[in-house]
Amino acid sequence: MRRTLIAGNWKMYKTPSEAVVLAEAVVKRLSAPDGIDVVICPPFTALEAVGKVVVGSRVGLGAQDVHWEKEGAYTGEVSAEMLRDLGCRYVIVGHSERRQHFGETDERVNKKGLAALASGLTPIVCVGETLSEREAGRANEVVAAQVKGALSGWASRDVQFLALAYEPVWAIGTGQTATPSRADEMHAHIRMTIAGLFGADVAKEVRILYGGSVKPENAKELLQQSEIDGALVGGASLDADAFASIVKAAKSS
Ligand code: 13P
Repeated sequence: MRRTLIAGNWKMYKTPSEAVVLAEAVVKRLSAPDGIDVVICPPFTALEAVGKVVVGSRVGLGAQDVHWEKEGAYTGEVSAEMLRDLGCRYVIVGHSERRQHFGETDERVNKKGLAALASGLTPIVCVGETLSEREAGRANEVVAAQVKGALSGWASRDVQFLALAYEPVWAIGTGQTATPSRADEMHAHIRMTIAGLFGADVAKEVRILYGGSVKPENAKELLQQSEIDGALVGGASLDADAFASIVKAAKSS
């Protein structure tokens, strides 16, 4: 059985002091354990302060990016060990905003995922096609290539520690979501791709989250789909009530 995972990606929002207020509100609203994994991913600068808020609660801490080297002369970068030491358990890797604006390639996504894994972090590896790729009928091909690129060199025994997030680029921050059935089909395609690499038994353990304009109003229908194992939430995760409603929708779906 795959445990549902609801992750909030706060992107480049919230100073440390604002982040503490939001994290406290999230923890307060989600105090009761309900069998769902919840994680919030504030900016690097707020990780330590938010870590102190969520420690001992059911809300986990995640980062939004990681460098693949353990340490070294890489100005501005942050290693998996550094994140781990701050209490992070998750890290988002290969978000489309990083692919689009910061030159993230499949090769880097692969190295970052492996580095996260080696430090005991759960990588949430993001994949997803752009609108023009979808319109050209290439969505399945693009997403499969991203999955294969991200998982190159992974040992099958480690794949259980991976979470994937399917985030169609055209759905991010636009208010447009993939229809639940279309998202479900893509998730099935992703799982089939993983099965092609590591076998069906391994593939069936991997959590595949949906991301892209997930809101309290559409969360339940999305999360009811058999292949959708959770959500990676952007905008709505900046509102504690909305985020908590999405977690509740996951519980009842
Ligand atoms: P929105 O929920 O704001 O569309 O963002 C999705 C996302 O990019 C999460 O990583």
